[in-house]
Amino acid sequence: MKLTIIGTGYVGLVTGTCFAQAGHQVICVDKDADKIKLLKSGGMPIYEPGLEELVKANTAAGRLEFTHSTQEGVERSDIVFIAVPTPALADGSVDLSYIEGVSRDIAGAMTGYRIVVDKSTVPVRTGEKVAETIKRYCKAKVEFDVVSNPEFLREGFAVEDFMRPERVVIGVSSQRPVAAMREVYLPYQAPIIVTDINSAELIKHAANSFLALKISYINAISVLCELTGGNVQEVANGMGMDSRIGRKFLDASLGFGGSCFPKDLSAFIHISAKLGYDFGLLKEVQRINAGQLDRFVKKIMDTLWVVKGKTLGVLGLAFKQNTDDIRMSPAIELCQRLLKEGAALRAHDPQAMEKARAVLPGVTYVDDMNEVAVGCDALIVATEWPVFKTLDLQRARQNLSHPIIFDGRNLFDVAEMERLGFLYKSIGRG
Ligand code: UDX
Repeated sequence: MKLTIIGTGYVGLVTGTCFAQAGHQVICVDKDADKIKLLKSGGMPIYEPGLEELVKANTAAGRLEFTHSTQEGVERSDIVFIAVPTPALADGSVDLSYIEGVSRDIAGAMTGYRIVVDKSTVPVRTGEKVAETIKRYCKAKVEFDVVSNPEFLREGFAVEDFMRPERVVIGVSSQRPVAAMREVYLPYQAPIIVTDINSAELIKHAANSFLALKISYINAISVLCELTGGNVQEVANGMGMDSRIGRKFLDASLGFGGSCFPKDLSAFIHISAKLGYDFGLLKEVQRINAGQLDRFVKKIMDTLWVVKGKTLGVLGLAFKQNTDDIRMSPAIELCQRLLKEGAALRAHDPQAMEKARAVLPGVTYVDDMNEVAVGCDALIVATEWPVFKTLDLQRARQNLSHPIIFDGRNLFDVAEMERLGFLYKSIGRG
């Protein structure tokens, strides 16, 4: 099928590329001329495992093109996907101005029937507004359908998640676009759920908020474990073996971050309030999450007493493993707090150091993770990169002035760390 994707961020670029990989003819549109130039010349604006290879292969095969012209994309496609940012506003609501602007651009370029699909994460009832806008601004007065097709991609695993989706949600207000949407997703052999548009939009916010809730739940249990000497990983294992609960997203941590969970929670709380419902449960999820970082900072302060003038090593800056994304990263916030307290920091991240430099200018960036501890008073693990599990612990012990490790991601075994002679403080374990 002929598809256009508007917006070449994490979602748009992965979506367009994976559609092309499945055999569709795809045009990716972005207003940012520099980004389009970069993509056309084979460069990548983001790090996402496996993406670069697929972009190259599909561009070479002639199935994937880039342009900054929405007009061109709309003219040459049957289906137009909107994948533009929906950033948070100061009050927790969502800035829908990009969605509105793109809807107007699409409307202005339409000369025949088109399916306009919203893939950006939006509050419930946005589809209704998109349809109203297109109707108002379409001079050609052609027929169209608006569809909600939320994405469920995890950064760092986005290509994998797109190629093997657990489900595809298609929200429609008429049956007309359903066959075409099924055809788009046919190659992925995933279960397809067809709903009304409002339900599809709710599915996205409800799913992300539930996952965030699951993390906050286990983080609250981690506090009880610390108060009682319990082990949160054992509790999570025991809970997770109940298939009604499941083990995933029960890893206690210094808190969740990223461009999705914090923003989507705020947006869901905000739209609920606007509709007349106080979603207090989700406010508690936010409160517990913020508390995790506070507790972790306190743990560091209580142990080191004064951090002013001390040098601390930090492993991990991205908001999670497998990404260079530092948006709402608990690791970055942790560094900012420690710098404010007067600590000097040496930090390493396998992918995020370049982006971190812009927001953490005073930090010494270290290319080799095994060199971070040199001259440090303590080492901190802030992101769950699997490679950190291979840290040379003997060397870290020799390099540290004092063998102290704070692990915000529970990467190491408590008994083993004690055997190696570390003062080892993690989350919810003893
Ligand atoms: C999330 C959803 O998983 C995805 O379906 C949606 O489309 C976008 O939002 P993402 O933000 O990429 O994806 O990251 P995810 O893997 O969900 O992790 C979010 C945060 O939770 C990270 O900071 C991660 O470190 C943290 N986390 C995750 C935990 O603290 N504990 C866990 O058990 C799982």
